[in-house]
Amino acid sequence: MNPTETRLYPPSETTVRNAHVSGRPAYEALVAEAEADHQAYWGRLAREFVSWKKPFTRVLDDSEAPFFKWFADGTLNASYNCLDRNIERGLGHKTAIIFEADDGTVTHITYAELLERVCRTANALKSLGLKKGDRVVIYLPMSIEGVVAMQACARIGAIHSVVFGGFSAHALRDRIADTGAVLVMTADEQMRGGKALPLKTIVDEALTLGGCDSVRHVLVARRTGAPVPFAAPRDLWMAELVDAQPTTCEPEWVEAEHPLFLLYTSGSTGKPKGVQHATGGYLLHAALTCYWTFDLKPEDVFWCTADIGWVTGHTYIAYGPLALGATEVMFEGVPTYPDAGRFWKMIQDHLVTVFYTAPTAIRSLIKAAEATPSVHPRNYDLSTLRILGSVGEPINPAAWEWYHEHVGGGRCPIVDTFWQTETGGHMITPLPGVTTLVPGSCTLPFPGIAAAVVDETGNDLPWGQGGILVVKKPWPSMIRTIWGDPQRFKNSYYPEEFQGRYYLAGDGAVRDAQTGYFTITGRIDDVLNVSGHRMGTMEIESALVACTELVAEAAVVGRPDETTGEAICAFVVLKRPRPTGEEAQKIAAQLRDWVAKEIGPIAKPKDIRFGDNLPKTRSGKIMRRLLRSVAKGEKITQDTSTLENPAILEQLANKS
Ligand code: WTA
Repeated sequence: MNPTETRLYPPSETTVRNAHVSGRPAYEALVAEAEADHQAYWGRLAREFVSWKKPFTRVLDDSEAPFFKWFADGTLNASYNCLDRNIERGLGHKTAIIFEADDGTVTHITYAELLERVCRTANALKSLGLKKGDRVVIYLPMSIEGVVAMQACARIGAIHSVVFGGFSAHALRDRIADTGAVLVMTADEQMRGGKALPLKTIVDEALTLGGCDSVRHVLVARRTGAPVPFAAPRDLWMAELVDAQPTTCEPEWVEAEHPLFLLYTSGSTGKPKGVQHATGGYLLHAALTCYWTFDLKPEDVFWCTADIGWVTGHTYIAYGPLALGATEVMFEGVPTYPDAGRFWKMIQDHLVTVFYTAPTAIRSLIKAAEATPSVHPRNYDLSTLRILGSVGEPINPAAWEWYHEHVGGGRCPIVDTFWQTETGGHMITPLPGVTTLVPGSCTLPFPGIAAAVVDETGNDLPWGQGGILVVKKPWPSMIRTIWGDPQRFKNSYYPEEFQGRYYLAGDGAVRDAQTGYFTITGRIDDVLNVSGHRMGTMEIESALVACTELVAEAAVVGRPDETTGEAICAFVVLKRPRPTGEEAQKIAAQLRDWVAKEIGPIAKPKDIRFGDNLPKTRSGKIMRRLLRSVAKGEKITQDTSTLENPAILEQLANKS
């Protein structure tokens, strides 16, 4: 972010007039309402945005803080809220999802049809003996089936854990084992950019790696029809089982705190953590943020380009838009296939009005449009767009300006939404009819979110001074715990340094001295953000050293990258003499493949450098800050006097 950036983009009068939150005074009134009585505020919204089977009588139970409970004596069902309720309101014939496959085939599904499929699938799960609280791992492509699978779990109170289709058998195994899933839902293959990629064979491999004894069945959807190994009676074809089921299924009414899903994300240490979300609070925030941040109206066509394997695809595909009865686009493929005009063509074809994507996609499409003028957005009719969104990483002002001008035609507000897997939904974000935008800033907290910037001891910092981003009050859609590891939850998010008072986001932030607008300055822990995907440096290091034949030691850091935001840079000491030239390249390629196998292709280091050893203090600690400088190609200005082997820095500065 350029600190001297001063261009301001106030909302147009029409946008202000028509928005659900209309004008700055309306925003201030909501903030004041929340400040005056945090619980009354969230209680009011929970009654307005969620249908309860049994209404709650108490909003927040903080008796076991930081294990907060929201709306705990209320009962509800998330799938009822997303489906039946809309049909009862007369939206049965409205299109819920416009699905576009990789090859361009389009399928529309109405709310009534979606409900029927969810009910059949829910009944199929029940027929396999699944019950409330059982875990289901979903390893499906971007598809209507994916959303149906999630909603079907919610319908019967099973807890889903979606695993991104780009994760490897090892990563999948770890998640299956950690959740103790009894069922895996998958497909024969997935299609991406014209290529068929395996899914079922990866599930099979994961199940043979050990630790997955809990799995009783694998339900397999047909996507490409390719022959895949099939081990009856464990394996079952999804369609055969689902089509034979009754079309209605009474929802399981669960307590508000009943876990809706687990979603694994990277932390700074150890293995990925299973972030646990609760049904009631999560659903409220999913619906509310769609209503206020995206300003979704009945006639809107919303498109969130995220994969359902990430939290963005959970909140802004599988739950939020459906909870409001909206029409949404879902896309199987990649933005560059058959060409880099795909997003723009889809916006044009489906008359998309609200578009939500990641800065990394924008940056790569800018590059593509510069190289190939025919895929520039100016060649498409994007006049239906009214709001644009950005998520997952900081958006640099240049990309923001391009997005605003060339995609939004200079007229669409951009909501730069800051949030995390753990927060369930937007935390700091502009609201389209409220906020004067500053490129590169996520602006102000969502009403009711007590975001603040503090120092290492938890004291407030004045505006203008960079520090640690915290949230001072609990909020309904917050992470409840880390599955199976409550202590890690406490240590990670409510650490002792802050006397357990504040939620620690893991990001740094600074507030503008005049406006109080927040700018996220990046992670303050060892988490990297590569193309909007969170990766733990330790996770990649463990993957590298697991290659015991070759690797003695490894350290992973991030360095800024023009397209992907950050790039993974690995420093590796081999068990053999340091390779150079072609040999180094060969081994680097081998290690990249290894990491892809251990975690997934998204974790492949862009840069691998070999050293005789790593820069360490005399006490043996790897000096990561030096490695970060080396990775960036910076001249080392830091003090290296505590370094045991200063000469190593020069060696590592040379790319292999
Ligand atoms: C980063 C994705 C700047 C941040 C929803 C956060 C952002 C991490 C933004 C969470 C934004 C997300 N501006 N940084 N608008 N949105 N981040 O869990 O570092 O995959 O902690 O959730 O992404 O990533 P996660």
